[in-house]
Amino acid sequence: MPRGSFASFGGGARKCVGDNFAMAEMVIALATMVRRWRFDRVPGSDLRAASLATIYYPRRLLLKIGRRAPKAAGRQSG
Ligand code: HEM
Repeated sequence: MPRGSFASFGGGARKCVGDNFAMAEMVIALATMVRRWRFDRVPGSDLRAASLATIYYPRRLLLKIGRRAPKAAGRQSG
């Protein structure tokens, strides 16, 4: 990835000091969610990238969210 192309945490002398913590926290949060829930894309989504300040996201992401079967959720139920 070209230097400076990922600017979600800023850059240079005043770059975010919590960037590594935030990335680790987001991975844990996402892993926790997908372990318990299914996220199925439904028709009507537009996954072309849109940008707002430092954030990139799909233009329109429609999801149907459902609970995974307890067995697929691992040792912890619920
Ligand atoms: C997704 C989460 C986060 C995003 C997108 C984010 C983004 C940013 C951005 C864009 C800046 C400004 C950088 C600049 O001035 O050029 C910043 C500064 C800062 N962030 Fe974050 N941040 C996040 C999470 C965190 C966390 C979890 C912490 C602390 C645990 C944190 C602590 C700080 C601090 C202390 C600054 C000021 C650094 C300075 O001015 O020297 N941030 N952050």
